[in-house]
Amino acid sequence: MRSGRFKKDLSDAMRALNASIDFDRRLYAEDIDGSLAWAEALRARGIISLEEEQRIRDGLEKIREEIDSGRFHFSQELEDVHMNVESRLTALTGAAGERLHTGRSRNDQVATDFRLHLKRAAHAAFDSVTELISAMTGAAERFVDIVIPAYTHLQRAQPVLLAHHLLAYAEMLLRDRDRFLWAADQADACPLGSGACAGNQFGVDRELLRRKLGFSRLTHNSMDAVSDRDFACDFLHAATLLLVHLSRLSEDLILWTSTEFGLVVLDDSVTTGSSMLPQKKNPDACELGRGKVGRVVGNYVSLVTTLKGLPLTYNKDLQEDKEAVFDSIDTLNSLLPVFKLMVETLQVRQDRAEALLQGGFLEAISVADYLTRKGVPFREAHRIAGKAVRRAEALQVSLPELGLEEYMALDARFGSDLFEAISIKGALADKDVVGGTAPRRVHEEIDRLKKLLAAERE
Ligand code: ARG
Repeated sequence: MRSGRFKKDLSDAMRALNASIDFDRRLYAEDIDGSLAWAEALRARGIISLEEEQRIRDGLEKIREEIDSGRFHFSQELEDVHMNVESRLTALTGAAGERLHTGRSRNDQVATDFRLHLKRAAHAAFDSVTELISAMTGAAERFVDIVIPAYTHLQRAQPVLLAHHLLAYAEMLLRDRDRFLWAADQADACPLGSGACAGNQFGVDRELLRRKLGFSRLTHNSMDAVSDRDFACDFLHAATLLLVHLSRLSEDLILWTSTEFGLVVLDDSVTTGSSMLPQKKNPDACELGRGKVGRVVGNYVSLVTTLKGLPLTYNKDLQEDKEAVFDSIDTLNSLLPVFKLMVETLQVRQDRAEALLQGGFLEAISVADYLTRKGVPFREAHRIAGKAVRRAEALQVSLPELGLEEYMALDARFGSDLFEAISIKGALADKDVVGGTAPRRVHEEIDRLKKLLAAERE
């Protein structure tokens, strides 16, 4: 690359700064696929012969094998994966290899490689998230009879099915899955044939390139095509929200595994011990799920910040896109299988669930609703129910334990049917709307998810 224009060598320090081979070697498979398609397009245009195309093809497949098997020598002198592959190809094929870069730039080459890579990564993330949704649905089904308090402000609020709580995460994960699909679609445009920035000067058949590489459409502006990394931001955004959701799940599980809650027991296969305290069984998987949000959000901010204010078209700043994306891909790949296992092996303690329902005056809203159903305006009913809570608190009893005389002293409209109406069972059953925690509605949601996932598997 330098032998024509430059008299002096690159300094060692600049070589180290400039080279991306240590991380962009991850793109070698896509780079080889791109070059195979490019060779075919050059041959179709009469720029190389059929025989040269065949030699390039054989050479590239040999390079693929060498890299696959760890025998390839990557060199920092050659900067990046594109030059490493091309240089080896030339060593293998001579003049044929030297013709391959005709009309192509590393700018459209790297954009192509990166889009191919992200398409795959986004589809893989979609699949892993789907498996987690399936595990979550399975857990909801296993624990469908367990009732827990739902919390607002981390104060006990209303009884719900534990399954309802778990399915809340399934909903978040369904949205995450869609975002990965969207990210895959955003990456799914072929930029090859955009050249350095102005387009291809040999009339290369971009439609052929698109078909060969499995893209669904072409990019429509060469200047945008070589400088656009929006698709990578879309992927990182999807990863960010997924991690935010996993961190919330993590926090719930960390609380629930504490002795104070004691609601959940995590399997030995996903918990760790303490080097000092023999009794400890730590929810490290959750803490890592919560902790890794930082780097994944950081990766998103890093790329978006790199793009901000960049003049058109390609600038070397764009080389900074890769590590952020690779790190987020690696983070997803390390977390998602563990989360799946953790959810699949989750155990719940029925006795602790029952204990958590005691003492939080969870029935207060049912007391108010009881009066409301008797025609009392809600605000008045709310006041009366509040007084009942105060009275129960003073007598150190629960709302169902507060006697009928006590209720009647507060308001004459209370009757003996009150206690049935404020039972936990009643409070669950009356949330009988789409999205409510009534057991029959929760069963419907479990069925809906199971059908959805089963239909996709077919
Ligand atoms: N290693 C470069 C990158 O990752 C490839 C593109 C280089 N293009 C260039 N004109 N220097 O972005």
